[in-house]
Amino acid sequence: MEKLLSFVSNNNEKFIEELKAFLRMPSVSASPEHSNDMKATAEYLKNHLIEIGIKKAEVITTEKHPLVYGEWIGAPGKPTVLFYGHYDVQPPHPLELWDSPPFEPVIKDGKIWARGATDDKGQLFTHLKAIETFMKVKGSLPVNIKIILEGEEEVGSESLEKFLELNSEKLKCDVIVISDTSMYAPGEPAITYGLRGLCYMQIDVEGPKRDLHSGTYGGVVDNPINVLAHIIAKLKDENGRVLIPGFYDDVLEISEEEKKELKKIKVSAKDIMDETGAPKLNPTENYSVYEAMTSRPTLDCNGIWGGFQGEGAKTIIPSKAGAKISMRLVPNQNPNKIAKLFTKYVKSIAPKTVKIEVKDLHGGFPSIVPLNNNYIKLAKSALKFAFGKEPKFIKEGGSIPVVTTLSKRLKAPCLLLGFGLDSENLHSPNEHFSLDSFNKGILTIIKYIYDLGKK
Ligand code: BES
Ligand code: MN
Ligand code: MN
Repeated sequence: MEKLLSFVSNNNEKFIEELKAFLRMPSVSASPEHSNDMKATAEYLKNHLIEIGIKKAEVITTEKHPLVYGEWIGAPGKPTVLFYGHYDVQPPHPLELWDSPPFEPVIKDGKIWARGATDDKGQLFTHLKAIETFMKVKGSLPVNIKIILEGEEEVGSESLEKFLELNSEKLKCDVIVISDTSMYAPGEPAITYGLRGLCYMQIDVEGPKRDLHSGTYGGVVDNPINVLAHIIAKLKDENGRVLIPGFYDDVLEISEEEKKELKKIKVSAKDIMDETGAPKLNPTENYSVYEAMTSRPTLDCNGIWGGFQGEGAKTIIPSKAGAKISMRLVPNQNPNKIAKLFTKYVKSIAPKTVKIEVKDLHGGFPSIVPLNNNYIKLAKSALKFAFGKEPKFIKEGGSIPVVTTLSKRLKAPCLLLGFGLDSENLHSPNEHFSLDSFNKGILTIIKYIYDLGKK
């Protein structure tokens, strides 16, 4: 163990330089103009795997962005760990709000600043650097490992889902380790045991065949923006309850036992108001703020368009309007079923004066990971070793769409061992990752692999 630890401290600078090179690659999965950057990033990762000692590495092409796969199966009789991460990042906009350019990483205040720093390039790099440490110090690992890196997590993981349908044998493993979630607080580690699912929809409303003079036709030709506004208003009541019939049917209520556990996580309304600048929070029925953020379903409009957006006034009835609407889901809601209920309801409340199209953009299942297995025990002690503190067990309001599918198809438990912080601006300008967490993340994974190999 000592040799491993000193390798990490002696190579600190090298690791950070390599992470910087990875962060310079603009792997934005949502933007078609970055599709070559996605390919280049996948190639880079494959070569990096070879460099750290994972000779069996490949880029797997898909209909969209490539997967990267690597394996080292040199420990017969020992468990196999599958490491999952995503190399795609969110679009960096609005660019003007960044203190330094999103794809030119800088080190400042003990943090590395760039798009993808915490979500998820910095976090997945902790796995690679831990593996490298074993390979360079000992020439082998005490367990078998497989690595799957995808480029579509931020857009719904469709290609990986498809790959899993046909290739689950290739990824067969005993446990799946994912570092793509948050810690409890700076320096305070956590294991995440629940993620919300997602159902992402788009509504397109079409009225007249072109924008019309609102004086000439106003009053007889309906207005797509007004129609859309009515529809959106009917999706939720004033208390925030979703009005889509059947929406709550499959929601599994939080058990009394879990409620007790959730109480241990202290999140107050004031914390959230301070963190976000929201003047007041929504009502949360009989649920605490933390319960509402992690264990209840939601519906939110993410974007809305239509009509004249320029300065001054223009008198028209617009031809088109649209909105993007997402729903966060909890066990046992099914994103495909929710998409159907949403579509049916929207069509049923839409007037005949316009044409409505409802599209299902993507979705993912909610997940709850089991906590009573030996992999969790080992993870607890690995975190204690690296951070000097017992981890808290937390739930995440966000989603990692592929977690449930991975677990089901591979029949292996997922371990959500996150080293990020909610305050590290993921999906926002000035995303960053604490170098202390980076370092302790590497140590955690090393210790985890080490202990797992002793069994
Ligand atoms: N790493 C996040 C999930 C997450 C969010 C962890 C917040 C910790 C705190 C992941 O990359 C993500 O952003 N997921 C998307 C899923 C989607 C675009 C399909 C999300 O939750 O919006
Ligand atoms: Mn992520
Ligand atoms: Mn993300």
